[in-house]
Amino acid sequence: MYKDEIDTDKLPQHVAITMDGNGRWAKSKGKFRVFGHQSGVKAVRDTVEGAAEIGLKYITLYAFSTENWDRPKREVNALMSLLVSTINKETKTLLNNNIRLEAIGNIEELPKKCQSELKEAIEKTKHGSRTTLILALSYSSRWEIINAIKQIVKNKVSEKNINEELFSQYLTTKGVPNPELLIRTSGEQRISNFLLWQIAYSELYFTDILWPEFRREDLFEAIYKFQQRERRFGKISEQLKEKN
Ligand code: IPE
Ligand code: IPE
Ligand code: MG
Repeated sequence: MYKDEIDTDKLPQHVAITMDGNGRWAKSKGKFRVFGHQSGVKAVRDTVEGAAEIGLKYITLYAFSTENWDRPKREVNALMSLLVSTINKETKTLLNNNIRLEAIGNIEELPKKCQSELKEAIEKTKHGSRTTLILALSYSSRWEIINAIKQIVKNKVSEKNINEELFSQYLTTKGVPNPELLIRTSGEQRISNFLLWQIAYSELYFTDILWPEFRREDLFEAIYKFQQRERRFGKISEQLKEKN
């Protein structure tokens, strides 16, 4: 069991996951793509509970990208109604596990019903202190960065005050530590416009597992393997050892 192998003193603070492969999973079973999305909910529940179980502080799930709006209308609508029903049903799971819900992305683009369900769940779970679950919805990193620049210009921030810290404050992830680990399922090895600024030094972990089959033990495996890596941040190995 990978769970027992994890060094809980060296947990990443923040893990981000691109949940990919729902459509291919459904197709492999001779089902419609939507069935894959529906089945992905169980993977979300198990993974998020797993995150709380080990005490991960932040988990961000890429659930719907800006580019996903360009999918067939049928699929977009199905995803939006699934989102509404899932947020509604799973609020209990969040409360039971002491999890706080947050959302990043262009939330105003979502159907009104989604926005209100989301708002309600965020409000209901706001005292959750074990883990923060951040859903990336109608999110894309370039959208976020452009948005940040617009705000900076609007606030007439002077050039001398612009630095990495200030810029981070204008991103939707303000106040959230950068993810140390980014997981992507389904074998695709790309970023797809996700957290470009924030993952500058993240460890990337790709697995062939299709999202509907992903479970907490797979999260634990990724974290265990992350802990075996040496993060050098531009330095050399010997320098890191000196510190310890
Ligand atoms: C991920 O699965 C879910 C969303 C992007 C909403 P996909 O729907 O991308 O599934 P594949 O990649 O086509 O298999
Ligand atoms: C990335 O998956 C977005 C989400 C998981 C929400 P996609 O399936 O949309 O990404 P591409 O199109 O394969 O890059
Ligand atoms: Mg995909």
